[in-house]
Amino acid sequence: MHFKELSFPTNYIWGAAISAAQAEGAVHIDGKLNSIWDDFSKRKWNLNRKIAHHGISHKPLNSAEFYHNFKADIQILKQLNFKAFRFSTAWSRILPNGIGPINQKGIDFYNQLIDELLENNIVPWLTIYHWDLPVALQKKGGWVNRDILNWFEEFTQVLLHHFGDRVLNWMVLNEPLAFTAAGHFLGVHAPGKIGITNFLKATHHALLVQANTGRQIKNINANFKVGTTFSATYITPYSQKPKDIEATKRADALYNRLFLEPYLGMGLPISELPFLNKIEKYTKSEDNYAFDADFIGIQNYTREVAKHNTWMPYIKAGIVPAEKRNVPITAMKWEILPESIYHILKKINQYPNLPPIYLTEVGAAFKDTVSENGDVNDQERIQFFEKYFQQVLRAHQENYTTEGVFVWSLLDNFEWAEGYHPRFGLVHVDFKTQQRIIKQSGKWFKDFLKS
Ligand code: BGC
Repeated sequence: MHFKELSFPTNYIWGAAISAAQAEGAVHIDGKLNSIWDDFSKRKWNLNRKIAHHGISHKPLNSAEFYHNFKADIQILKQLNFKAFRFSTAWSRILPNGIGPINQKGIDFYNQLIDELLENNIVPWLTIYHWDLPVALQKKGGWVNRDILNWFEEFTQVLLHHFGDRVLNWMVLNEPLAFTAAGHFLGVHAPGKIGITNFLKATHHALLVQANTGRQIKNINANFKVGTTFSATYITPYSQKPKDIEATKRADALYNRLFLEPYLGMGLPISELPFLNKIEKYTKSEDNYAFDADFIGIQNYTREVAKHNTWMPYIKAGIVPAEKRNVPITAMKWEILPESIYHILKKINQYPNLPPIYLTEVGAAFKDTVSENGDVNDQERIQFFEKYFQQVLRAHQENYTTEGVFVWSLLDNFEWAEGYHPRFGLVHVDFKTQQRIIKQSGKWFKDFLKS
């Protein structure tokens, strides 16, 4: 099937996405103070691995310098025919100390960004928190301190006050499982914390924040469209042995159900993950994880294969790396399996009263090279998108519909613990010169989205 035959509904939303810590750069400019990622990436060793070096400093410091280039980048976005843009707000650019005095230059930046988008007929979709907590708040315990509920409310209030006249679409958190599990249990993401207590406290507070903030935004204006985003991984068992099948259920509860089900009002998946019972100790009578959202954001990149593993604490399940399974992989070493999204949508659609779904991140990292004539011919990425969208349409035919897609990412950027090596962009960025080259995949979208 050629891409021209990919017939999506005419009102389907087509956007591209970035996040502040990954794309903005300008870390110490115009009053911004450090986020936990600025600190974390400065450490030489981050517990399990070093942020990989590939000839350039792997800190979000420089990155794609979107802060200085946003006008030109929005022109590229427009040229590629996208009509929506998902970005996040750097908390420590707006409130350098996390709470208290506002940094006017931070407000000015996002005001200009939002105005520029609107002037170019591109709808802003704002993510409040994409993993970059101010260091000042981390010093007070960050996500493991229940005060995060008040800090987050204050930050949200500032955003609503300054941007709520022009931004209608709000996403509260980006993939809470990542910053709770990778950041507070495994220690491989900022803030580099480990252990079950940190994980459970951070999880409890993130569950509360994603629901409380939804209510806070709706109370200001019921017309705002509010949701939050979830990672969603298609998980299959390594074998048909009952032990592997049970392990797969536990992995699925952790990867896919922990944050989504409480949000939908279904509570925690305690029967598969009994250790979640310990959260009760931190719970107050007023705590409510449920929120009647306008939409949910789903972000699926791959499939994982799960296997029983007695040594894995708490979930007794391990993941069999894609590299060992002899399957095609991306530069992240993730299996390339576009039908994962079909299975995810089918599975999620079993939930009753599901709000509309947006695919708030879709993309793949490959080892893109710039040819002598200055072209980046990323055919693998084009194929990935074609096949992925075929699977989204397959889901639509079975009534598992979605309302829109945000491509990850507009620009090559800082890929967290992997540094600058994996490139996800539709636009190649030379991190030394900041030169942009629209990749063939970007041109593919330009053609595909042309009206
Ligand atoms: C995150 C992005 C990240 C992408 C690829 C998502 O989990 O939201 O920030 O770059 O995955 O790893």
